[in-house]
Amino acid sequence: MADLLLGQVLSFNGDPFGLGPKAARVNEAVVVDQGRIAAVGSAASLRATFPQARVTDYGQHLISAGFVDAHVHYPQTAIIASWGKRLIDWLNQYTFPEEMRFADPAYAAEVAARYFDLALAHGTTSMCSYATIHPASVDAFFEQAQARGLRAFAGKTCMDRNAPEGLRDTAQSAYDDSKALLAKWHGRERLSYVITPRFSPTSTPEQLAAMGALWAENPDCLMQTHLSEQTDEIAWVKDLFPQSRDYLDTYEAHGLLREGAVYGHAIHLTPHEKARLAQAGASVVHCPTSNTFIGSGLFDMGLAQSLRVGLATDTGGGSSFSMLRTMAASYEVAQLRGQALHPSQLWWLATQGSARALRAEHQIGNIAVGAEADLVVVNLASTPAIEQATRRAEGIWQAVFPTIMLGDDRAIDAVWIAGRLLL
Ligand code: GUN
Ligand code: ZN
Repeated sequence: MADLLLGQVLSFNGDPFGLGPKAARVNEAVVVDQGRIAAVGSAASLRATFPQARVTDYGQHLISAGFVDAHVHYPQTAIIASWGKRLIDWLNQYTFPEEMRFADPAYAAEVAARYFDLALAHGTTSMCSYATIHPASVDAFFEQAQARGLRAFAGKTCMDRNAPEGLRDTAQSAYDDSKALLAKWHGRERLSYVITPRFSPTSTPEQLAAMGALWAENPDCLMQTHLSEQTDEIAWVKDLFPQSRDYLDTYEAHGLLREGAVYGHAIHLTPHEKARLAQAGASVVHCPTSNTFIGSGLFDMGLAQSLRVGLATDTGGGSSFSMLRTMAASYEVAQLRGQALHPSQLWWLATQGSARALRAEHQIGNIAVGAEADLVVVNLASTPAIEQATRRAEGIWQAVFPTIMLGDDRAIDAVWIAGRLLL
């Protein structure tokens, strides 16, 4: 049976970085049927066209596409908010010991379940995650995503150097394991496998080349990795790859730069790297709570003019599971660079922008006819502080912005996955 949802239904008919706020539209109603958006319009017209539909009235709540988290490490769920280190120390002190525990498939399954429960409670309906080097950590992720009916992306994190014993594979085993996981999961229901070398410091040139070969054999997959997050990391890459022109070249030289490449962070880029990313049609993902938490730097949102830019929590380097909090951090970081992002741009980044960075913009990230019906219902007065700030709001964006800046999981009133009410 079709469902007719009433509320403030937010859709984008374009990119607000090009079109400005008029890229967004608010309608009174949306109809979902057989997992997809069937119609968007006025309450009266949709009631007349779909007289049999079951009606749910969400009042003044915002009905949006669910949030899309374009870069997350689900195995780092339990180490979120670990105190005080630079990236490389943080990896060695917290991340690698925690990822080691994923050798136990039961632990991987437990954390995957917990991660999805947290993500959904925060209104995140799709995510692109790193697993650990253990193939069973990929199975755990996809099994939990499948059980919830989600569109989700992930891959086995590959590392064959500069990681502790027990967290290293080899060029060959990374290729073989990734290939087997890809064959098992890619394209199954709503799941996509992502080829995932962690970053150049933890892969030998042989392993990067093996990942490039696997990607050439499976060109419709995404490939994700990290790029230019911290200055000392970049100096390390220069030492490890003395022949390379720059950090991006360590990927490009091994077949890991083209459309479908998704680079996390991408903060300290040279003009040449920016130009190559744009020519190649690659995506970059802004992880603002992580970049401030680990002290990495201030992302240049000017890149949104020439690149696909997604938004992400980067949990557990990031300090929140909430894409609302992530939008707020993105706003703050842009302010520090003299860029004032409009709320429509922030919301677009967290939905359609991230979907586009993952080349899934026709399936998820927007309320458009034919798109998959993953929806989040947002209470725009979820706490006393937010409620009083919205009282005098004129127009949708004044009403939404306090929730962006002050909101969290308390603002998430309901989540629909593929046209079914999940929570
Ligand atoms: N660079 C390589 N691995 C990681 C990671 O797990 N988190 C972050 N923030 N950066 C990385
Ligand atoms: Zn990351």
